[in-house]
Amino acid sequence: MSKKILEIKELKREFLVGSETVRALKGINFEVDAGEFVTIMGSSGSGKTTLLNILGCLDKPTIGDYFLDGVDVKKLSRDELAQLRNHKIGFVFQAYNLLPRTTALENVELPLLYNKEISAAERRDRAIHALESVKLADRFDHTPSQLSGGQQQRVAIARALVNQPVMILADEATGNLDSRTSYEIMALMQELNTVQGKTIVFVTHEPDIASFSSRTIQLRDGRIQKDTRNENKKNAKEVLDNLPVTDDY
Ligand SMILES: Nc1ncnc2c1ncn2[C@@H]1O[C@H](COP(=O)(O)OP(=O)(O)OP(=O)(O)O)[C@@H](O)[C@H]1O
Ligand SMILES: [Mg+2]
Repeated sequence: MSKKILEIKELKREFLVGSETVRALKGINFEVDAGEFVTIMGSSGSGKTTLLNILGCLDKPTIGDYFLDGVDVKKLSRDELAQLRNHKIGFVFQAYNLLPRTTALENVELPLLYNKEISAAERRDRAIHALESVKLADRFDHTPSQLSGGQQQRVAIARALVNQPVMILADEATGNLDSRTSYEIMALMQELNTVQGKTIVFVTHEPDIASFSSRTIQLRDGRIQKDTRNENKKNAKEVLDNLPVTDDY
């Protein structure tokens, strides 16, 4: 049996807005095994980002349980939670969230600055290695404005990898990218999943993107509507290889 990396039970998240309560998540249950590649789908406002923020320990549920790698998140202090998050989770956002006027290498080094046990030399080595793994070895000194959208997202993925997390959480990470570049990002995600064994939870509203994962959880109005295995998981590298070379995808 595989190891459970995530386990959530009867998870609810409510937001108080003025005198009104917004029920963003209304009782969510699921488990993710180590090494799975899960996409979370659902229309705008269905609760995807709210759920991902809780999975990433950036937010807490109003009620319900969340076990991350067997640890009951509710029982952790702020510092313990921050530590757990830094060690286990890498985040990738739609808007890349890179620091402007800061090189790719420095952006990737950033999460390691909080770790006093890592020397400046090791920090640099690990950032170099992470950028190489997303195939940006030739762009270390470029700032975000000197990079394409896809390259900026790869820098963001390298930054998510630099702490060697067991799990990558991505929120619409291909949302601002054209098809070809999106497939490149999905090929990279599939490689991280199969070669490095990273668990991936990837939010998207595009069925095309979800077809590269092995399981899709469909949210609707704060609840799970469907949770299905993708029998015909597509290989992003193959899709890329078969794209015509000169088209304007
Ligand atoms: N901080 C907040 N305060 C109040 N309401 C919120 C807050 N965050 C989310 N909501 C509400 O919770 C619901 C779910 O929002 P969420 O951002 O999770 O949706 P989503 O599925 O990510 O949508 P999208 O595809 O547009 O990103 C929405 O109705 C939203 O208005
Ligand atoms: Mg969202």
